Amino acid sequence: MNKKTVEDIDVRGKKVLVRCDFNVPQDENGNITDNRRIIASLPTIKYLLEKNAKVILCSHLGRPKGEIKKEFSLAPVARELTKQLGIEVKLADDIIGESAKKLTSNMNEGEIVLLENVRFDAREEKNDPEFAKELASLAEVYVNDAFGTSHRAHASTAGVADYLPAVSGFLIKKELEFMGNALENPQRPFVAILGGKKVSDKIGVINSLLEKVDTLIIGGAMAYTFFKAQGYEVGDSICELDKLDLALELMEKAKQKNVKLMLPVDTKVGKEMKQDTESKTVKCTEIPAGWEGFDIGEETIKLYKEELKNAKTIVWNGPLGLFEFDQFAIGTNEIAKALANVDAITIIGGGDSSAAIEKIGLSDKMTHISTGGGASLEFLEGKKLPGIECLQEK
Ligand code: ADP
Ligand code: 3PG
Ligand code: MG
Repeated sequence: MNKKTVEDIDVRGKKVLVRCDFNVPQDENGNITDNRRIIASLPTIKYLLEKNAKVILCSHLGRPKGEIKKEFSLAPVARELTKQLGIEVKLADDIIGESAKKLTSNMNEGEIVLLENVRFDAREEKNDPEFAKELASLAEVYVNDAFGTSHRAHASTAGVADYLPAVSGFLIKKELEFMGNALENPQRPFVAILGGKKVSDKIGVINSLLEKVDTLIIGGAMAYTFFKAQGYEVGDSICELDKLDLALELMEKAKQKNVKLMLPVDTKVGKEMKQDTESKTVKCTEIPAGWEGFDIGEETIKLYKEELKNAKTIVWNGPLGLFEFDQFAIGTNEIAKALANVDAITIIGGGDSSAAIEKIGLSDKMTHISTGGGASLEFLEGKKLPGIECLQEK
């Protein structure tokens, strides 16, 4: 994938529309609780400022479904950007309306305007060409740096590219480099770790990774579907009964492809999905009725760590247990620690996985943590992402 970046075109003094993914979590008072996506957007913005460009930023926040709703305003983002950049980021009251036009028509070089939430207009998600054209008319160049939204074919992520020269920012460049290299050119042994809640969410990614990895490690709730498929009882554990055949097919495919498929051998089970519920560790083949598997067990952690020691490339998507509760976060935390210490390229995709790693302060120890949730999953699945496909080739 050889897409032009912001360095490959002339942006000096030009009006540049930059699509970012500022879809960040906030608390009930509108305080941003995780600003990593904003921080990740800064290199592109700073580069454009250095080039004396006039920077017009846009993004969605949440899912306001085409309606203007105050709680989805980008005002907190404008404040955070102002703080991070040390220069005022003006927020327009609308996207392509009077306010946006006024603020962007007479911009000075090195000035920044943020448009309001693009999803306040229903035409955004419909990828409406008229809307895209009007948005494009505010600028002379389009830069997509919203990796986390690049799996959506929306007006601001793909449609605008029909009307402006379109290139990627540094964030997308970095995501493509790390994740693309891992998939296309991995240093081996290449190990993937997949966890999370449902097999059905991860079928595509399991299928595509089975074509590439040497070892596939399974954890999280989706492991129980594999045990049920082999005829074991899984108590009250999350289990997708309509995916049993599929689980067996995936096990068969692993065999054919010579991929070492590792399932947990023991599991920490709890009585109820509660913080301090009674718990114990049992073999995965002996889960008692009335108990629910919430984490991988100690024996499994040991085996997985041993496997990771020799890996040269590790891709991880999906927590290995119900990590939101401390007593079931041990598997996820221990594997995160193993990744932090191994001499390998470590790549994390997935919103919950990266939150789990951030929670225990190991983010800095990973080679790359994707800013994408759904987008990184689709990328790992080998799907084409509309927000990237629309960019100019080198
Ligand atoms: P990501 O966002 O990283 O792609 P997923 O959304 O697929 O990850 O899965 C994360 C969710 O899976 C978390 O909320 C976690 O608590 C849950 N989960 C993982 N293992 C279990 C389990 N054994 N039982 C219940 N929930 C689990
Ligand atoms: C995300 O948080 O995954 C992206 O910002 C995309 O948001 P969406 O799922 O509402 O399109
Ligand atoms: Mg998730």
